[in-house]
Amino acid sequence: MFIVVGVTGGIAAYKSVHLVRLLVREGHDVHVIPTEDSLRFIGLTTWEAISRNPVTTSVHDDVAQVRHVALGQSADLVIVAPATANTLAAMAAGLAADLLGTTLLATTAPVVVAPAMHTEMWRHPATTANMATLRRRGVHIVGPADGPLTGGDSGPGRMSEPDEIVAVALAHVRRTGDLAGLTVVVSTGGTREPLDPVRFLGNRSSGRQGAEIAREAAQRGATVVLVAASIDDGVLDEVSALPAVSTMRVETAAQLGGAMTDAAADADVVVMVAAVADYRPAAVSDRKLRKEDGPLASIALVPNDDILAGLAARRREGQTIVGFAAETADDDVIERARRKRERKGVDLLVVNEVGWDSGFGPGENTVAVIGAAGSVVAEAAGSKAAVAGAVWDAIAAARGIR
Ligand code: CTP
Repeated sequence: MFIVVGVTGGIAAYKSVHLVRLLVREGHDVHVIPTEDSLRFIGLTTWEAISRNPVTTSVHDDVAQVRHVALGQSADLVIVAPATANTLAAMAAGLAADLLGTTLLATTAPVVVAPAMHTEMWRHPATTANMATLRRRGVHIVGPADGPLTGGDSGPGRMSEPDEIVAVALAHVRRTGDLAGLTVVVSTGGTREPLDPVRFLGNRSSGRQGAEIAREAAQRGATVVLVAASIDDGVLDEVSALPAVSTMRVETAAQLGGAMTDAAADADVVVMVAAVADYRPAAVSDRKLRKEDGPLASIALVPNDDILAGLAARRREGQTIVGFAAETADDDVIERARRKRERKGVDLLVVNEVGWDSGFGPGENTVAVIGAAGSVVAEAAGSKAAVAGAVWDAIAAARGIR
C-alpha cells in the first residue's frame, strides 16, 4: 500500500520514527512528509533512512514530478502523526502552505490524524471546533491518549502509541466502502412517554452510541436513515450533516415504531440502538396534572409493543436485524443476552454493561456481540466510535462481506 505519513512539529515526532518502521516492516511503500517545523525534532536523514524513500518538505522540490499533488493522488492512506493544534487548524481551514497541506487537499484516500498537544490546547474551543469540522469531513481521529505530557503535567494530549495508530489506520483502509450499496436504518436516543403536556417517563440514553453507529455506516459507504428519539444536545449535529444520512425525530415508542417500520421496508440492515420504554402511562391527561387534583398515588402503565421483535418477525429476505441490550452487571450478562437474542429473533445482539456512571453519555463503552449461534462473535472496548467500528465489522461478517 502507498502510505503517506505527515509529521508535524511536536516532540511526539520521535514516536513516529517507530510508526514509519512498523509500516515499512509490514511491506508498505511509505512516503514521509515532514513540516519544516518538525525537522527541529527529527531530521530528513532519519526519515529517508527509515522510510527508504526520498523525503522533501517543500512544494518547490521535484516540480517536474508535480510532487505537490502526486503524493496525495497516489496515496491509499494518509496518516498525520503527530498532528499539532496548528496543523489541525490548517487542515480544517483547507490551507495548502506546504507539501503536507497540498497533499492533504489532493488526496481522496482515508486520512487518519493522531493529535498531540497540551491539554489546554486540546480543550480550547478553537481546537474542538476544528476537530468537529475534520470529523464531519470523514477524517479519522486516533487519540489523544491521557497521560504525562512534556511539561511534567498530565492529561489528554499525548499522541497515541504507534502500534495503535497503525492498527486503526489500516482498519480504516480495509473498511473503506465495504458497506457501499447498503441501506441501513438506525434508531437512537431514549423514548419519552407523556403523562400530561409537561411531564413524561423517560430514560438516560444520550443517543451517542447510535449516532456513532450511523456515522460509521455512512463513512463506510452505506445510505443511512437515523431515527432519533430524545438525545443529548449536539449529539446529532455532526452526523445529520453527512450527505448519506437522513434524520427523523420522534418522541414516543409508538412514533419510533412507526418510523422504524416504514424505514425498514427498504433496508438491508436495521440496528435498534434506541432505549425504548417498555411501558407508557395508561392515560395521558390533556391538561397539566395539578396537586389540587388530589394525591397521585400511582401511575397505571400499559406495555408498549416490542419494536425490535416485530421488525425481526416481519424481516424481509436478506435483511439483517441487530438489537442492543443495556444490562447491569447483577448476574450473568452474556447468558441473559443470549436468551434475549433468541427471544427477540434477531441476527446479532450487542450487549453493553451499564451502571449509574457507565454506558451513558460521552464516555467509553464496552460491548460483546452475540451471534446467531449464541456465541460471542466480537468484543470491543473504547470510544463509542471505536465500538461502532467493531459492531459494523460484526454485521459485515454476518452478511458475508469480505
Ligand atoms: N426494544 C424495542 N422495543 C421495546 C423495548 C426494547 O425495540 N419496546 C429494543 C431496543 O431498542 C433494544 C432491544 O430491544 O435494541 C433490547 O432492549 P431491552 O430493553 O434490553 O429489552 P427488553 O425486552 O425490554 O428486556 P428487559 O426486560 O431486560 O428490559
